[in-house]
Order: sequence, then C-alpha cells, then structure tokens
Amino acid sequence: MIHCRVAGLGRYVPEHILTNADLERMVETSDQWIIDRTGIEERHIAAPGETTSTLALAAARVALERAAIDAAELDLIIAATTTPDGLFPSVASLVQDGLGASRAGAFDVNAACMGFVSALATGTQFIGAGSARRILVIGAEVLSRIVNWQDRGTCVLFGDGAGALVLEAAEFGGPLGFVLRSDGARRDQLFASGLCGARDAEGNGPLDCYIQMDGPAIFKFAVQAMTEALRETLSGARLGPDEIDLLVPHQANLRIIQGVAKALGLRPEQAMVNIQKYGNTSSASIPMALCEAAEQGRLREGARVALCGFGGGLAWGAMLLEWSTSGIPPAASTSGGRMTASRAGG
Ligand code: ACO
Repeated sequence: MIHCRVAGLGRYVPEHILTNADLERMVETSDQWIIDRTGIEERHIAAPGETTSTLALAAARVALERAAIDAAELDLIIAATTTPDGLFPSVASLVQDGLGASRAGAFDVNAACMGFVSALATGTQFIGAGSARRILVIGAEVLSRIVNWQDRGTCVLFGDGAGALVLEAAEFGGPLGFVLRSDGARRDQLFASGLCGARDAEGNGPLDCYIQMDGPAIFKFAVQAMTEALRETLSGARLGPDEIDLLVPHQANLRIIQGVAKALGLRPEQAMVNIQKYGNTSSASIPMALCEAAEQGRLREGARVALCGFGGGLAWGAMLLEWSTSGIPPAASTSGGRMTASRAGG
C-alpha cells in the first residue's frame, strides 16, 4: 500500500475585512447576536478583480513553497469550489496555468461545503492506487458573490478565502478511513440555484444564485450528520473519539462545532476553531483551518487528524488521517499510471 503525507500547506484571504460592526450598518443585526449565535467576529471579502482562482493560486503558491516542490512536479490539481470563476475552464485548470504546472491534470469538485473532504479523499485514492505521486488539493471560494447582502439570515455567516495542500506519496501515514454521504432529497434546505459563475468580479450577473437555506434545520442536521460520519469513520479504524489528536471541522457555526464535540465527548483543545476570523468559507474552511493548525504546531508526526464537513446537497462526511512528515519512497514503488493533463484535464 502507498501511504501519503501532507508535504505543505498554504492559505490566503483577501485583504478587506468586513466586521460585525460593518454589518450592523448594512442590515438589522448586532455584533452581540452574530457572536452569540455563530461565534463569527469578522470575515474577509474579495476585492473587485479577485476571483476564486486568484485566491486559490495565492494559497497554492504558499503550499508549494512550504513543500519545497516545483509546480512542474505536480501530477494533478484538484480544486473544491462552489463559486468557480465560470462554468469552465475549471478553477484547477486556471491554477495549473498560473503555477506553470506543465505536467498536471486538473479538475474541480463541487460538493458545497463538503467539497474539500471529497477532493482530499479523491486525491488520497489517486496516490494509494499509484496513479499520482504529487497532488495539489485546494479549497477556494468567493462566497461574497453569491450572498444576498440584504438578507440578515445569511449574509452574516459567509466569507472568502482559500486553502491548499500538497499531498505526496510517502512511507507512512495517510487516510485511515473516510465516509462520504449525500441526501439530495433535502436539496431545498440549502441551495444556490443560479449559474453563479456567470457573475463578474464586481458581483454583477444573475440574481437567482444567492445562498438560501433553512438555518435551524441545517443546524440540527449538521451536528447529527457530522457526529455520525465521524463515529463511522473512527469505528472503521477501530479508534475512539478520545484517540483523535485534532478535529478540524468545517467552520460554519461555533455552536455546531461545539455540538459535535459534545456529542463525541471531545475535550475543547481537540477541536480546531478559527471561525471567529473568517466566517464560513465553504470549501476553503477546512484547508484554511488545517493550515493554521500546522502553523500553530498542532500537527505532529503520527497525529490522528479528523476532518468533517456538511453542506448543500445535502452532503456530509468525515475523514481520518495519520499525519506524516516522512520523506517520499523511491520512484519505483509508485510507478503505476501517471496522470497527465491530456488524461485528467477536460
Ligand atoms: N441578526 C439578528 N437577528 C437575526 C439574524 C441576524 N443576523 N438572523 C436571524 N435573526 C433573527 C430571526 O429573524 C429570528 O427572529 P424571530 O425569533 O423574531 O423570528 C431569530 O433571530 C432566531 O432565528 P433563527 O434562525 O431561529 O436563529 P438560530 O439560532 O437558528 O441561528 C443561524 C441562525 C445562525 C443561521 C443558524 O441556524 C445556523 O447557523 N444554521 C446553520 C447554517 C449553516 O451552517 N449553513 C451552512 C451553509 S454551508 C454551504 O453549503 C454554503
């Protein structure tokens, strides 16, 4: 079996910060209400001219630099996003071009806020099968372009950002298991139905693409679904919740994270939380939080790191990783099929 490690992590958020005080001037809300109900204090908003691919590219450059890997060594780029620059080309292809990743295939994954876990699970399978040795996995969003800034029930929740990681074949570590689930029958509880990619960098375009949701129903679903997915993943690996070194959940609402932690009996320090600074950045939230955890020195060799997410679809799931920083095996041990732009691109 081929293992994999995370060789480098990067994140990027736009410069402009929108605080709760700013939102008080835009809709009927209060800093206190937003903090009490969500834990969010501020979020970053993309500038005109910034798009999902420009955010993704910035995060990817940091991840590659930290991994000390040249873009030309990448076999594949997978970008998770619900707010691509357009219907096509994919964000992954735009990043491939921006990096000069001349040998890499590229495609996007859309599973709303579950996108990053789905993309990472896909990447680990490519490495496990020997089809790729180095994969860039990205989560990036400009949700501010699909938020109705007059709807206080949603506009206080979301922000823009990107996270990226370089997955590399290794001697040790990688996925201990994952669970991906969906219930499309509940699609009306959380959706953005228009062609959001058709909106330009200033946000002009079709109006029917705003995020709409049944907040309380999604809240209950999120706690239950992520708890069950984590339990199933842990039980598959014959581990208990107390054996998780770090849980990096989708950052949608602090109370949702606390609900999952309580249901699993986790200690507060077992869960990574950075929602107060960024809000819900959908596909970007888990890689951004993972990157920040690494910067804080919370990801040691051999650590068991659990990821979990939920989002529109409805879709949800969890993944358990054994963290590895060990070097890569000799080329001969991963000499299976190699993805190239012509085979993986579209
Ligand atoms: N400021 C002040 N009051 C507000 C605001 C606001 N921003 N938003 C709603 N309210 C009011 C409501 O109108 C309601 O007033 P009422 O009692 O007079 O009717 C009251 O606050 C309570 O509203 P609820 O919706 O019941 O509040 P709740 O505690 O459920 O919190 C929230 C709302 C924060 C949206 C919560 O339900 C939640 O986080 N749900 C999950 C949302 C989520 O995570 N979505 C994921 C999207 S991921 C993706 O795929 C894009």
